[in-house]
Amino acid sequence: MKDFRVRMARPDDVVAVVRIANQAFLETARLTGPIGRSFAQQLRDGGEWLFVVEDEDGRVVGFLLGRHSGDTAKIGWIAVHPNYWGMGIGGMLLRAIEEKARRMGLRAVETGTPFARSFYEKYGFKCIGVQRALILEIAGKSIEPPQEVRMRPLLLDDLSSLANIMGRDDYLSLLSSYFSTFQSDPEKALLSLDGENVVGVVIGRADSIYRDLVTLEYLYSVEPRYALSLLYGLVYLSSVEGLRWVGVRFPVPHIDEEELRKKGWKDGELPTFWTRYWMRKDLK
Ligand SMILES: CC(C)(COP(=O)(O)OP(=O)(O)OC[C@H]1O[C@@H](n2cnc3c(N)ncnc32)[C@H](O)[C@@H]1OP(=O)(O)O)[C@@H](O)C(=O)NCCC(=O)NCCS
Repeated sequence: MKDFRVRMARPDDVVAVVRIANQAFLETARLTGPIGRSFAQQLRDGGEWLFVVEDEDGRVVGFLLGRHSGDTAKIGWIAVHPNYWGMGIGGMLLRAIEEKARRMGLRAVETGTPFARSFYEKYGFKCIGVQRALILEIAGKSIEPPQEVRMRPLLLDDLSSLANIMGRDDYLSLLSSYFSTFQSDPEKALLSLDGENVVGVVIGRADSIYRDLVTLEYLYSVEPRYALSLLYGLVYLSSVEGLRWVGVRFPVPHIDEEELRKKGWKDGELPTFWTRYWMRKDLK
């Protein structure tokens, strides 16, 4: 059994850390570009903590990226090279951030994790919340347009008239969502009509990394009964565009998680889109 030790990362560790992230995460989590850039920036700008574990030959076999926010330490990323799983290296990294947090007088360590809930529980973390992200695979499936409503693109000129039928906060949220996707995904904003009456608005956004994934950015339904049709309007549009997935982060007004599961939606497991378990360990 080799000896391992934890230390703070140096700039010459960044490539090793990126390789570990490549290999440790799921196939779809191979984000060499964004990870490498973010680690280089962290080391340059400071403010974040990047711990690494090295073996007795100085080979980096795991890392943890964390930071301090208020009275809490937060873990952003943790990964161990797959050849070294189950040897306590992840635990060493957790102890390193806990010790640093204790020295700084912080009260807890927190993280959000899609895959490693049992790992954190083994080291005394408790699950304090779940943020569901459901995803529907649409490629290769028969997807029909919703029957109940008619969808058409939501144009800039439509917006002012919506102010009259929506409450102030809903309308301001709509404007914020509309303009935040206006440049990148103008075709993913849809107005929904029943006859001549507007019954809702739905806006999607292409994921910044998985361009085949559209996530629900905004949904407004005049009556609860239209909400699912509105979502399926976005599903239909995405299918017409030849995309692969549609994702929804809960809660969404008038959309029921269990109902979507019955329709084949599953927990998201893409690195930019996943059901996240919030984990916390109080430091005594
Ligand atoms: C999660 C991870 C960091 C654990 O590192 P490790 O060095 O194997 O951890 P330890 O040896 O200290 O602890 C092992 C325990 O963690 C848990 N565990 C190990 N791999 C796990 C995985 N892929 N998913 C969930 N839990 C895992 C098990 O409970 C295991 O306990 P056991 O050995 O008694 O069965 C490592 O498996 C990894 O890099 N996984 C891929 C990346 C990842 O999922 N990161 C966290 C999400 S952001």
